Amino acid sequence: MDSRIKEAALQLIEASTVTCLTGAGVSAESGISTFRDPQSGYWSQFDPEQLASQRGFKRDPGLVWRWYMERLVGSTINAQPNPGHIALAQLQNRLSNFTLITQNVDNLHEQAGSTNVIHLHGNISTFFCNSCRRDHILSDAERTDDLPPSCHHCGGMIRPGVVWFGEQLPRAEIEAAWSAAQASDVMLVVGTSGIVYPAAGLPSLAQEFGAVIIDINPERDALSSMAEIFLQGPSGEILPQILDEIDKINAK
Ligand code: OAD
Repeated sequence: MDSRIKEAALQLIEASTVTCLTGAGVSAESGISTFRDPQSGYWSQFDPEQLASQRGFKRDPGLVWRWYMERLVGSTINAQPNPGHIALAQLQNRLSNFTLITQNVDNLHEQAGSTNVIHLHGNISTFFCNSCRRDHILSDAERTDDLPPSCHHCGGMIRPGVVWFGEQLPRAEIEAAWSAAQASDVMLVVGTSGIVYPAAGLPSLAQEFGAVIIDINPERDALSSMAEIFLQGPSGEILPQILDEIDKINAK
């Protein structure tokens, strides 16, 4: 493992452009569930069609609202960035042209100090009207309501600013992610199963354009097989080791 950490650190230092794609695994050590863990993953306990689609929201708005409000509390009030988020924020200052793309809807990258994070799947702390799509600032009282609040402009239902199945990803974000992937010399892929497209297509796009892929994940999967460097383990342990190695090389 040591030699692969060294190899990853060297690749990162030598790259002119580095892109990092994160998924739920990077927040797992902050106590936030992933989606597809067979025991604790959200989608092994709940039906994504009910909780993350227009149809499900219209069928049972209260259920959807309460689920997101619980996740909002879990990911914003109760969770703290872990050593993986903190190492990524520090990598931004050590490496050239570093772009961080996340599929996560929490703000833990920003809380750790990362800036200009591209949120491909939206943000659980923002809200908008499901009818007129105007932004909505959530009050504390609305957060604990059993039903979604009503829009002050049109009376429509307020929903979280996350992307649901069947919905388009935000255009500016997907375009920025695509450009970053194509320009990358190295793409660091952290804590994602690589199953949900279009985000899952970013590593192969980067590779087609010549990038070296470094994958960090405790499990082997299709992404780890395509990666030039696979670092098997939790990102809260591996990312700080890469950062240390970069600092050691830079100090020589
Ligand atoms: P998944 O739940 O599909 O995958 C999480 C990945 O993190 C798995 O590959 C785990 O092995 C890995 N993992 C677990 N613990 C880890 C740790 N400590 N360090 C590093 N990796 C770890 O989550 P995503 O790939 O993020 O979309 O899922 C993609 C999208 O599917 C989500 O953004 C969400 C979901 O449906 C929407 O809601 C639109």
